[in-house]
Amino acid sequence: MDHFLYRDGELYAEDVSVRDIARSVGTPFYCYSTATLTRHFTLFDQALDGMDHLVCYAMKANSNQAVLRLMASLGAGVDVVSGGEYARARAAGFDGDKIVFSGVGKTREEMRAALSGGIRQFNLESEPEMHRLNAVALELGVVAPVTVRVNPDVDAKTHEKIATGKSENKFGIPIARAREVYAEIAKLPGLRVVGIDVHIGSQLTDLEPFRQAYRKVADLTRALRSDGHEIIRLDLGGGLGIPYERTNTAPPLPVEYGAMVREELGDLGCEIEIEPGRLIAGNAGILVTEVVYVKHGEGRDFLIVDAAMNDLVRPAMYSAHHDIVPVIEATAGAEQTPYDVVGPVCETGDTFAKQRNLPALAEGDLVAFRSAGAYGAVMASEYNTRPLIPEVLVRDDQFAVIRERPSYEQIIARDIVPDWL
Ligand code: LLP
Repeated sequence: MDHFLYRDGELYAEDVSVRDIARSVGTPFYCYSTATLTRHFTLFDQALDGMDHLVCYAMKANSNQAVLRLMASLGAGVDVVSGGEYARARAAGFDGDKIVFSGVGKTREEMRAALSGGIRQFNLESEPEMHRLNAVALELGVVAPVTVRVNPDVDAKTHEKIATGKSENKFGIPIARAREVYAEIAKLPGLRVVGIDVHIGSQLTDLEPFRQAYRKVADLTRALRSDGHEIIRLDLGGGLGIPYERTNTAPPLPVEYGAMVREELGDLGCEIEIEPGRLIAGNAGILVTEVVYVKHGEGRDFLIVDAAMNDLVRPAMYSAHHDIVPVIEATAGAEQTPYDVVGPVCETGDTFAKQRNLPALAEGDLVAFRSAGAYGAVMASEYNTRPLIPEVLVRDDQFAVIRERPSYEQIIARDIVPDWL
């Protein structure tokens, strides 16, 4: 459930008319709902009730400071994957002991920043990384809390570009080698083992792959404990999918996910960490765009909108589906027309949807791409010198711009022409 609903024939974000926001900030723009973000975090938090746990929001999904500030105020932890994300998390008010650092390519500088600023744990992904972190920690005279991300060789049954738990993927250490690697870590004085980490992919619509992976993690926990390691935390990653198409069967709910976690891991006495991103932010956001032209093509009609692949890249990159709805609700029984919905960028890949049935639309009409709160604004670029689009946050009957659209002058001013030219 989200808070983008029609009221008196027009789309509202909570108690604010989307059309009013468009009038005020111009199109295209992203619009997020505080109530939906809060609701999704709370669902996860409650799903793990009764187990010692921390929901570490995977901020790669949406890292706007206002969204992070909201998460911090709800008591969330945060999962970061770069020095930039670490800095954002600190700026938004997350204490170091709420920040988990993931990612396969952490640099010395990133390790130094996190060790100096405070960190809950590093999720290590390789042996070279483990040796480097040990060296950096010793240089700083501290001990780094670590888990090892294990690769359980489980098929997450999701899009190949976002599956991470198969042995051929670049992530983690093969689970079969984990005991050997933990034995190595125990010899390194700059590292202290706190647990195990696993993340098998994103947009999973079935609990079974999670269950298989977590069962392997439970076995490994027992084995590592018998080897003498202290395993106090299990980081189970993120990945629970969202319903992108309202007409499809919905993926499992957080409460079902939580019950499965309890079944598989509840008796180990470990603190459970999870790293959901998409499920918290995805359906808490829409992208609002205006129809620039309706072009009658060869046997098809193109709806050319003012948003493009640089603003929302998921359809071009993963052939992802986003529901598209008119901001002014179609009258009941209105005829549907198939449109190819495209942006203005000069490549055919700039296509949001092909032959999508929509009510008849005309120049100047507003439409909204749903489920655009995660991996939308964060993946945007300024390709074709199209300014990054504004982000707006709604709460009840108020809204605020939480990132402004840069002017052309600001964009151009970032380039530097050398004085020898
Ligand atoms: N933890 C780790 C270590 C991750 O790599 C990810 C996502 C998450 C947590 C959060 O996963 P989520 O709950 O959001 O599924 N850009 C792609 C998604 C990439 C996901 C990368 N890792 C998309 O737009 O579908």
